[in-house]
Amino acid sequence: MALYSEKVMDHFRNPRNVGVIEDADGVGEVGNAKCGDIMKMYLKIDNDIITDVKFETFGCGSAIASSSMATELIKGKPVSEAMALTNKAVAEALDGLPDYKMHCSVLAEEAIRSALKDYERKQRGEDVPEEKQHDEDKDENRFCCCTTDTAGE
Ligand code: FES
Repeated sequence: MALYSEKVMDHFRNPRNVGVIEDADGVGEVGNAKCGDIMKMYLKIDNDIITDVKFETFGCGSAIASSSMATELIKGKPVSEAMALTNKAVAEALDGLPDYKMHCSVLAEEAIRSALKDYERKQRGEDVPEEKQHDEDKDENRFCCCTTDTAGE
């Protein structure tokens, strides 16, 4: 049996929603301090609905496929549904990830949550400088073995 599902390979080779939203309503960045993997999510939200989402990932193929699938899963959905998205749901939508690659899907869940938290902070009128948007407490206890970059695509 192949290590990666066809869906993983498809989303890795043709990632959806890669890029930047300049006037995003919420931006979230999470990373792994040990290996340097970084995932950044940008959200456009209108009337509680996620109308657009883009990502940049500096990470492995599973991280790119997870980011891509996660953006597809939350686009057009209410904020509450996006907030409830789990890495398990992302991995299932990809028809599975190898056990040792499950942590890559966690990065997608956390990047979306971080962007949603940023959106909620902005809704409350709290302005967060971009350099503080990186969710540093999520950086610990992960490991990584390889990197591929979607930034600049
Ligand atoms: Fe997958 Fe680093 S994010 S190995």
